[in-house]
Amino acid sequence: MEPFRIKAVEPIPFPARAEREAALSTAGYNLFRVPAEVITIDLLTDSGTAAMSAAQWSALMLGDESYAGARSFTRFAEVVQDLTGYSEVIPVHQGRAAERILLGNVLGPGAVSVSNTHFDTTRASVEAAGATAVDLLADDRIRLGFGGDIDLDAAEALLADPTGHRVRCMVLTVTNNAAGGQPVSLSSIQGARRLCDAHGIPLLLDASRFAENAYLITARDPEYATKTPRQVAQAMFALADGCWASLKKDGMANIGGLIALRDRELAQRCRAQLIEVEGYPTYGGLAGRDLDALAQGLTEVTEPAYLRYRAETAEWFGRQLGKAGLPVVQPTGCHAVYVDAAELMPHIPPHELPATAFANALYLAGAIRVSELGTLVFGRRDPAGGPDIPAPRELVRFALPRRVYTASHLEYVVETAASVAAASAAVTGYRIVEQPDALRHFTAVLQPHEGD
Ligand code: F0G
Repeated sequence: MEPFRIKAVEPIPFPARAEREAALSTAGYNLFRVPAEVITIDLLTDSGTAAMSAAQWSALMLGDESYAGARSFTRFAEVVQDLTGYSEVIPVHQGRAAERILLGNVLGPGAVSVSNTHFDTTRASVEAAGATAVDLLADDRIRLGFGGDIDLDAAEALLADPTGHRVRCMVLTVTNNAAGGQPVSLSSIQGARRLCDAHGIPLLLDASRFAENAYLITARDPEYATKTPRQVAQAMFALADGCWASLKKDGMANIGGLIALRDRELAQRCRAQLIEVEGYPTYGGLAGRDLDALAQGLTEVTEPAYLRYRAETAEWFGRQLGKAGLPVVQPTGCHAVYVDAAELMPHIPPHELPATAFANALYLAGAIRVSELGTLVFGRRDPAGGPDIPAPRELVRFALPRRVYTASHLEYVVETAASVAAASAAVTGYRIVEQPDALRHFTAVLQPHEGD
């Protein structure tokens, strides 16, 4: 059960079927464009959507809003130093700002960044630096519960290649959001460390979900079963040279990010750029009160009872969705449950967006919002004008905001999803009528296929 009780509540809307139909059509059949006031359960993302604790709300009142050298920064920096062991701590307003600044200073034109999987904003920052992002996911590790691992043999081959000198950093995304939120094992991080040492390149963690990764190591690797998630997180950070994070996830707050490093000279270059684009190095685009809420959140997030509840909720939710007839990607991680829409609705071809069709059907059935991770997000337009080049998989992500929804909210999602699965043969696809050149899923306008 939830290891907390509820002190402040917020009503949720229950739009009628006709309102849902009108909202979806006005939004061009794109759930990103649907206003939150017509959504009953919002599982679009676990980012920036956490419920803060009473201790975090009271920490806000202690925020020191001094422009430079605020007490809030000292508290934040001490918590991050204790957790990571890195001396240099730089706050930023969210994860992608950290990526843009740090990767811009590590990479350059012609360079290569190698990773288990670069999250899409990470890839965008690598490419903005004129560099290339190479993803090397180890396909066979999912059986061991570590589907987020990097393929160390492929990474070694890349580094040994005559062009290997172009590789300037290795990035491990923990947990691996783009690969089903699966964790990265400590043995994979150790292997990455050895490769980085052999080739003189830094190992960096995208630590946005570091606590969930650490918990899943304690739950899945018998060698760490007696360790606390905090001890495992410290072991993960100890193996790397630095990290960045979106603190909108395991920071347990609604905004924030960080860069933390051992290398003082690199940190100074990042700070110089931070002043240009984010703010003075002791606040980095955040208010003092945000830094206090984050310091408290980073302390709470490694509590074993909280993490156990988080992982067990995802596991239970995945099992219930499976019983309801949905093809669920197993094993579940912590931050989301993924459903395979192509398997559920083989009658909808990829260019008619089966994952979008499922997500929209779920919205119409019960005002539930989930995100599509299929051809709308990862597919590409065919330069020859034919149907879109499909994504590798047509997944739908049911993300779990931290401490926001109770088990009965999720039961409602399961019941609604069961009704969609039962009637899935009648669900029809979509076609794109308007789309920008990049990141089309945020703004694209769609039409139901039956309207042709
Ligand atoms: N890295 C990872 C692994 C992420 O999941 C995200 C964001 C970022 C970096 C970027 O951080 O949003 O604070 O700028 N993921 C969100 C999601 C958007 O829904 O998964 P940001």
